[in-house]
Amino acid sequence: MKHIHFEEIPSTNLYLKENYESLDNLTIVSCDHQTNGRGRLGRSWIDNDDLLFSILIKEKLDNPTNYSLLIANTLLKVLSKYNPLVKWPNDIIINDKKVAGILLEGVTKDKIECIIIGVGININSKIFPDNLVFKATSLSLISNSNINKNKLLGEIMDQFLEDYNNYNNDITDILSNIKNNFYLSNKEVNFVYNNKKLNGIVKDIDKDGKLVVETKTGILKLQSGEVTLQNIYK
Ligand code: BTN
Repeated sequence: MKHIHFEEIPSTNLYLKENYESLDNLTIVSCDHQTNGRGRLGRSWIDNDDLLFSILIKEKLDNPTNYSLLIANTLLKVLSKYNPLVKWPNDIIINDKKVAGILLEGVTKDKIECIIIGVGININSKIFPDNLVFKATSLSLISNSNINKNKLLGEIMDQFLEDYNNYNNDITDILSNIKNNFYLSNKEVNFVYNNKKLNGIVKDIDKDGKLVVETKTGILKLQSGEVTLQNIYK
């Protein structure tokens, strides 16, 4: 993988969005600090000595949303000693708190041109904004030691490359690993679906990667992007 590193840029996702045409498939961009880091749902992503990177995908684009699950599975493997879980489809949870977030973005013209997989892993943050303090943690807090960010990024790149090379639009194996390490299993979730606020119990992830939720009125299958899950952290 070609690796570009910046000390500071607005956002690694934004950098790839603006430069994807001249960059190769599997280019990875990392930085020490973002001045305009972006999270899901238009939120900002505040960093503090954390691991921030984005990977450019220009091939194997048949099912773009599969890349959330692919990278989540890579992170599960690399972080396995911390017992991570996946909160479908975009967060990595350790000890009931969020340690990493994934922001998948795409560029579409007549067809899909590329996918950008943005990842932020809380590494050395020790203090979180008041509104996050009960639901975020970092690897250094969990392990009570300092984490070598470059080494961790190297491990993630190696594992992602292997997972990407093995990937051929089929997510059966990936899903089975994610289901074995699934944070939402049997949890009650509130969500917005077709502009309605609903709730239900998470039962499964189906073969296409959709979340299967049992509601009062029956089973619903939720596609990432269609729903916002609320209040699921302890
Ligand atoms: C989330 O909301 O949980 C997703 C957060 C994703 C943050 C990462 S940090 C690197 C990349 N660049 C960005 O601007 N965002 C992603």
